[in-house]
Amino acid sequence: MTQLLQGKVTLVTGAGAGIGRASALAFSREGAKVVVSDINDAGGQETVKMIEANGGAAVFIHSDVAKAGDVERLIGGAVKKYGRLDCAFNNAGIEGALAPTHECTDENWDRIIATNLKGIWLCMRYELNQMLKQGGGVIVNMASVAGLIGFAGLPAYTASKHGVVGLTKTAALEFAAKNIRVNAVCPGVIHTEMIDRLTHKDPGQERAFTALEPMARMGNPEEIGEAAVWLCSPAASFVTGIALAVDGGYVAQ
Ligand code: NAI
Repeated sequence: MTQLLQGKVTLVTGAGAGIGRASALAFSREGAKVVVSDINDAGGQETVKMIEANGGAAVFIHSDVAKAGDVERLIGGAVKKYGRLDCAFNNAGIEGALAPTHECTDENWDRIIATNLKGIWLCMRYELNQMLKQGGGVIVNMASVAGLIGFAGLPAYTASKHGVVGLTKTAALEFAAKNIRVNAVCPGVIHTEMIDRLTHKDPGQERAFTALEPMARMGNPEEIGEAAVWLCSPAASFVTGIALAVDGGYVAQ
């Protein structure tokens, strides 16, 4: 069977859990060598073990995407290990505390923007430099439906994800003629630990989140991994600068 990403070196940030882990496994199934990164070392190493158990190749590199030095070492480490960087899925992100705009604290604002927005920019800065050196590459940034529409109670998160969409379009234009494609993925409600933290696993809250989705169910992390794989693959060779909703119809409402 032909694999979409045979031999391609792919980085996934925030790959120690949730969507990042499912995506790392999906990239590996399609033949990629995967650089798994996270601040959670145990989670990241577990993802590597899962990939290796399926016969794939992966390495874990610790990196906090909000720290320039960590991200520089991450990209350097990936290239040292596998010789190049073909694809990157900048997935790491946090939700922060639920509170309306007038009650959002400085600490909550700064932490979310540092991770979700500055983190994506820092990853792109070092990835783009490497991709320019080697003559091409593909980047997928993690946004959200909260990057396309408002989301009451999550002001910093929503601002950060709108920012990711803007950054993605800008980089796509800057590098369209340089064989580097840059896209964003915008998931709807995906059942991960992030959603469990927001609902506190309370059945009533879970029903409320599910009710946001026209398909009347939450998405699975694997459904986002498949979209990231497609965006990174040659099958999407004329796709750049888009914010792809993978959301069960959420933003069609
Ligand atoms: P999760 O909380 O299950 O996993 C996130 C992973 O990122 C964790 O392993 C965590 O340790 C890591 N991480 C957190 N801060 C980091 C940092 N500074 N540097 C490196 N790694 C860090 O979350 P989930 O649901 O898998 O979310 C992944 C991404 O998808 C996030 O950017 C989130 O905003 C986005 N997203 C999630 C949706 C959902 O419904 N779960 C919907 C739309 C977007």
